[in-house]
Amino acid sequence: NVLILDFGSQYTQLIARRVRELNIYCEIHPFNKIPQNLETFKAVILSGSPNSVRGEAVLHPDLTNIRGKMPLLAVCYGAQYLAHFSGGEVAPSNTREYGRANLSFILESDPFFNKIKTGSQVWMSHSDTIKTLPDNGVLLASTEDVKNAAYKIEGEHTYAIQFHPEVYHSTDGKQLLENFLVHIAHLDQDWTPQSFVEETVANLKNTLGSDRVVLGLSGGVDSSVAAMLLHKAIGKNLYCIFVNNGLLRKNEFQEVLDQYKNMGLNVKGVDASARFLDALAGLNDPEEKRKAIGRVFIEVFDDEAHEISDVKWLAQGTIYPDIIESVSATGGPSATIKSHHNVGGLPDFMKLKIVEPLKALFKDEVRRVGASMDMHADLLGRHPFPGPGLAIRILGDITAEKVRILQEVDAIFIGNLKKWNLYNSVWQAGAILLPVNSVGVMGDERTYEKCVALRAVESTDGMTADWVNLPYEFLQKTSNEIINKVKGVNRVVYDISSKPPATIEWE
Ligand code: XMP
Repeated sequence: NVLILDFGSQYTQLIARRVRELNIYCEIHPFNKIPQNLETFKAVILSGSPNSVRGEAVLHPDLTNIRGKMPLLAVCYGAQYLAHFSGGEVAPSNTREYGRANLSFILESDPFFNKIKTGSQVWMSHSDTIKTLPDNGVLLASTEDVKNAAYKIEGEHTYAIQFHPEVYHSTDGKQLLENFLVHIAHLDQDWTPQSFVEETVANLKNTLGSDRVVLGLSGGVDSSVAAMLLHKAIGKNLYCIFVNNGLLRKNEFQEVLDQYKNMGLNVKGVDASARFLDALAGLNDPEEKRKAIGRVFIEVFDDEAHEISDVKWLAQGTIYPDIIESVSATGGPSATIKSHHNVGGLPDFMKLKIVEPLKALFKDEVRRVGASMDMHADLLGRHPFPGPGLAIRILGDITAEKVRILQEVDAIFIGNLKKWNLYNSVWQAGAILLPVNSVGVMGDERTYEKCVALRAVESTDGMTADWVNLPYEFLQKTSNEIINKVKGVNRVVYDISSKPPATIEWE
């Protein structure tokens, strides 16, 4: 178990992912909220930070119980922090120290640089530089421009690096982390999807005993994998509810429900389409639409949960990025923790305890855990789909007819992506029904019909995204098929906006 202390760097989550890729478990905690149970951690990593050790907003971790007592790796800000406050000197750098650099000197005899050779490319991103090493500092590596690119402290298992091993452009970054964690801190690489499943199922059995648990399935990866883990642990005591809000993709409700049943889940499908459409009638504003859907979802879910007697727990598919407390640029950990937006708030009268079996995992790890439980690749590889569904892809007010048109268009688009083997290389795709009619001609007839936009993006987390360069021939065939087959549509456009400044959804 590795403790990563976060100083607010944009790369902190990447450090965690790299550590886990080595099959070593780690947790991110804010630098000023060091966990009490330090003895459960075998190594500590200090992250980078947007702050400067010379500025007024210097972030002071309390390392009394860490430094010199267990293996410590300090990255960027961490490296500067150790230097500045332990007898070294940190100063603003004269030359730019951003981007690619190569290690022109490496102390190759040190286990820290096991299998890494002089010339190795690293990624720099800092404006301060370490002028002199701290007391007992031993120089380990330099680049052309940065003399003190890496050092260790004699007599401690303390290592410090100015560059970022976690980013892709540090070509030996993963090896470096492995050297530190495996060769210096002696951690075992035994945190695998299988071991996660075994451990989690055992813990769930322990915690839940013979209690009943209710879970809302969405058809998405997270809730499905969470359900599978709980199913393994408590079987029929897991009551799953899958709500059709009438805003899902074409045929999706039935298909996914069948899949869930095939997996052996105790699932009840609830078709509440009419209730949602009623609540949406006449609403134009995107946020009002979202709120209406959230409210009705809670009502429906609550009604259904009350049908099950003696439920004690609500299970959620919350994943790690939803709960990591990040450190804000001004210092302390930011106050707000994101709540899981798909499930919304819990009505007061449902006094259920919460169980979140995936809350330690990143998205790709959820997929790997699902695969290790032999879950269907279709389910695990499914594109993210927003909770409010097609309601936020129909601009303006929602009617049953508009939903039908968009479902048809979307089904052709997604179906073709699969047929052309493009589906898995796209992070998310869908169609948008625009609130405009435009003139067209079909046969000898003048038409005045709807325009739809197609959107396909690549992304890793939805925070930033770029449009996908789909083949012209694919777009041509898809457009043709949509206009020929979907009554009411006479124009198709392709969205070529990146996020930012656009967003993925149009509402
Ligand atoms: P945007 O449009 O903000 O979308 O670039 C980023 C990701 O979030 C999804 N999204 C939502 N998911 N409820 C959800 O559960 C919502 O209200 C919502 N709005 C956007 C979007 O599909 C994309 O994956």
